[in-house]
Amino acid sequence: PLPEPFKVPLPIPPVKRPVRTEAGVDYYRVVQRKASLDILPGLKTEVLGYDGLLPGPTFDVRSGRTTVVEQVNQLDVPTAVHLHGGHTPAASDGWPLDLLMPPGEHSGHAGHHTMTGGDVKTGSRTYTYPNTQRAATLWYHDHRMDYTAPQVYRGLFGLHLIRDDEEDQLPLPKGDREIPLIIADRAFAADGSFLYPAAKDGPGVESKYMEGVIGDVTLVNGAPWPVHEVDAVRYRLRILNAANARRYELAFDKGPANFVQIGSDGGLLDAPIEHETLVIAPAERFDVIVDFSQYQPGDEVTLVNKLDNNSNVLRFKVARKASDDSRIPAKLSSYAILPKPSGVVRREWRFRRGDAGGHKGWTINGKPFDPEVMQAQVKLDQDEIWSFVTDVHHPVHVHLAPFQVLSRRGKGRGPYDAGWKDTVDIRPAEVVEVLVKFTAHKGKYLIHCHNLEHEDMAMMAGFETI
Ligand code: C2O
Ligand code: CU
Repeated sequence: PLPEPFKVPLPIPPVKRPVRTEAGVDYYRVVQRKASLDILPGLKTEVLGYDGLLPGPTFDVRSGRTTVVEQVNQLDVPTAVHLHGGHTPAASDGWPLDLLMPPGEHSGHAGHHTMTGGDVKTGSRTYTYPNTQRAATLWYHDHRMDYTAPQVYRGLFGLHLIRDDEEDQLPLPKGDREIPLIIADRAFAADGSFLYPAAKDGPGVESKYMEGVIGDVTLVNGAPWPVHEVDAVRYRLRILNAANARRYELAFDKGPANFVQIGSDGGLLDAPIEHETLVIAPAERFDVIVDFSQYQPGDEVTLVNKLDNNSNVLRFKVARKASDDSRIPAKLSSYAILPKPSGVVRREWRFRRGDAGGHKGWTINGKPFDPEVMQAQVKLDQDEIWSFVTDVHHPVHVHLAPFQVLSRRGKGRGPYDAGWKDTVDIRPAEVVEVLVKFTAHKGKYLIHCHNLEHEDMAMMAGFETI
């Protein structure tokens, strides 16, 4: 039986404290370990967690200050940590074969396949994030070759917030009026363990889950359909879809509140945009303001998913009137709109189901992921227009640089495409053009589908920045 909704208070992941701080650098240590958590009432769920938590602790850092994270693997599986949305040197980007092995394991033997060519470390590994980018809601998660989906499913994900002076100066809701909402669906067995339909013989999932694994329990910050008490004032909600494959269309079950979007994957928009509903694909982030002063104390308002029969996500209880000196400024940021350049390099990336060389799964440009093959050599500081072409729905993610959506199906941007994005939801049989420019870091990076089952079933390609 599924738990009753709106019984558990919304947990807020703890903010990670540095172990040491020097001029310009903060040092952290995270232990990846198993833990037995109370997610469903009366049952225990074994998770793989950063510091044993689901979600992991939140990094809350300053733009321009370097974050150095020592990751310690105390699990029984290899891992690789990727900072999603990070402008990160290749050596710290979590290339799927740059594995962190559990203690005592020294080979690159990653489960089913023997993987070579990666920079393999054992026991602990240090990731360096320069955070040379504007304020934004990033997240970190596992990126192990062939096994990202089951390992994220079991808990290896958390938030990484970057703040800067530009954003701090805005009169936005702050403190406990700024709330992260990490939404992820999961399925559970009767004993409380996660139910993940892994293929019996190696990576990927049972063939009927080719489209992606979805669950019947919605977790927000790790709790099933939680409830959160709010004052009748404005709140800032940083929403992350951390589901493996499910997309949401979030809406309030009763008006009049709307979502006023102030930011996207890559930070603040130039100006706010009002939405009645929010369509959010896996790995996307929406930074929104919700004004609960439009409700009366005692009102309850529920966030539901319109793509799943208005199923429950989270309930807010409006507790009391309170004073509020926050505002939503008409101009949020000096966000630069890149001009559509002429004479730029164009590349096309086709995301399709595929059967390539006996490989069953998903492909990019007809090829399953091969870590030895770079599908493109991309010059730094060069404007490029990339077209993403799909068969079915694919949320496409590019590492290293954010992009701006130029068009969908040859028309303008969609309602959810504003600002700097690093993940864009490409609908079935669609072509989306984006403008992208890579800077600063040379090396091997990834473009892939962020439906994690598609990703593990090879819908990923390497490119090299030169
Ligand atoms: Cu969020 Cu390559 O991943
Ligand atoms: Cu996909």
